[in-house]
Amino acid sequence: MEHRKCEVSIGRLPDYDRVIVTSNRQYLQDILAPGVLAVIVTALGKPAWIEELTALVMTAKFVIPRTIYPDSTIDKTATSVTTMFKDSPLSSGVRDALCEDLIGLVSCCADLTGAARFRLRFFTDVPNCRCSYHVDAVPPRAPTTALVRVYCGACTEYVTPSNLTCWEDFYSYVYMRKRELDAIAVARERVDLTAEARAAARLARLDERPPFLSRPIAPERVPPDSLVACKFVDSRDLWGGTHVRARSAHGWIHRSPMVGEPRFVATVNASA
Ligand SMILES: [Fe+2]
Repeated sequence: MEHRKCEVSIGRLPDYDRVIVTSNRQYLQDILAPGVLAVIVTALGKPAWIEELTALVMTAKFVIPRTIYPDSTIDKTATSVTTMFKDSPLSSGVRDALCEDLIGLVSCCADLTGAARFRLRFFTDVPNCRCSYHVDAVPPRAPTTALVRVYCGACTEYVTPSNLTCWEDFYSYVYMRKRELDAIAVARERVDLTAEARAAARLARLDERPPFLSRPIAPERVPPDSLVACKFVDSRDLWGGTHVRARSAHGWIHRSPMVGEPRFVATVNASA
């Protein structure tokens, strides 16, 4: 295994924003350094239990709706995930390994943040256009370090800091996208097909060419079998759920893929 650390990019605004890609798990703690928006640890391998899990997700035999434990200790989370998967179609070996891995994610978040309570969410889903580029938020004053694990399926996409025009542009995009989604919802309620089509066209244009990208290149993808430590932002830095004290709200800009194979994803962050 390669243990060399490499930086995918060093951003322009500000100079120190960066994403680190490495095959050495020891570098995970670099997420605590100022300006590091993500540390992507690659080449974790694909043990037999993940192969089995993948096969069940791909054939829709293992389907988990969006599940959130919003504020739990490690012990409480362990009990919840064990109960959750008790009657699943997973074999006992896969079930135990998955529970252990999810609890390991929470423990890892505890090690990185020193927090005692966590928000864990996980789900299976087929890629779709519901969600685009965003940063996630933590409750006020909670540590902003989070972990994301895609166990199988299409890989998470992200923006390298050097391809960001500026944070103000990014948050403007988030605001504009939400405005179009709201317009579509209102038009549907009124059964106004023309208004819905116009808003949908504006949304498609935004997604085709996000205005905060310096270069319209294909997004970076988190490699399969990776663990991502990333920065969320403090919710106090977001106004109205979407906007902007942009200078202090630097986080990992990412999105779920819009096409590809079904995924099973877990995310954990400190809740207090
Ligand atoms: Fe996210």
